[in-house]
Amino acid sequence: MAQPRRIEHQQTDRGAIPVYATGVVEQPWTSYSASEHQVWDQLVERQTALLPGRACDEFLQGIERLGLGAGGIPKFSELNRVLGPATGWTLIGVEGLLPDHVFFDHLANRRFPVTWWIRKPEQLDYISEPDLFHDLYGHVPLLLNPVFADYMQAYGRGGMKAHGIGADALMNLTRLYWYTVEFGLIDTPQGLRIYGSGIVSSRGESIYALESPVPNRIGFDLERIMATRYRIDTYQRSYFVIDSFEQLFEATRPDFAPIYARLRNRDSHPAASVLDGDRVFQRGTGEGWDDSADA
Ligand code: PHE
Ligand code: CO
Repeated sequence: MAQPRRIEHQQTDRGAIPVYATGVVEQPWTSYSASEHQVWDQLVERQTALLPGRACDEFLQGIERLGLGAGGIPKFSELNRVLGPATGWTLIGVEGLLPDHVFFDHLANRRFPVTWWIRKPEQLDYISEPDLFHDLYGHVPLLLNPVFADYMQAYGRGGMKAHGIGADALMNLTRLYWYTVEFGLIDTPQGLRIYGSGIVSSRGESIYALESPVPNRIGFDLERIMATRYRIDTYQRSYFVIDSFEQLFEATRPDFAPIYARLRNRDSHPAASVLDGDRVFQRGTGEGWDDSADA
């Protein structure tokens, strides 16, 4: 199978990210090697051992319903037979990260792009860009939850709109995605649980996000999050906690245009900051954190 085609790098407040060819590709399932299937199995086994009691029930149920376990890399076409009837989402194969507007257009139409290639055996613990394991195991289980499924589509539509407004609006919206879809925590009667895909697809961060005294854990606040910077190259300095997916969906229902306008004239907050008015679940010690490298 050909190598994924990186067409450019984009400088963002997340650092330099590769941008890939935009086309939809057929998942080259028969060309995965035994070692690639094994990478999938190893990653799944590690997370399956770790996530009960850490990931939220909706995520764990999604894993079950999709049958995501060891047994090799799943076929997108088979997962689509579960996903389609449940919430109308379709997985499509892609080369990797997409230009923003292409990504938004897919989400707005309930298509979730999944990178077709999987990381190498020496990248089990860390990879700097999303691969098949992150995209599939991290993101797809929650697409079976009706409220989250609607949120993702609304985000895609909101992205198209922000794209038309300008780069600042897009950055504000991207921060929302980062601190919810990628790195969100949820408060439950049993305690804090993970729903963010970047956490559930990382062994180290699955423990750190909930148990480490270092990061802040702060109640969800839409505008505050949209003004908060983040890093892509370390565990997060702050996690934001929602009460429910309904809360998340309702909070993002209003027109963001006035919010973007307000935020334009304001400074952003460092990833590490705790602000007056924050609902603080945990004030992080910040130990070992290098603020100078903050975006
Ligand atoms: N309500 C947002 C807007 O007007 C759209 C949106 C919905 C964005 C859900 C993110 C998540 O732009
Ligand atoms: Co992701």
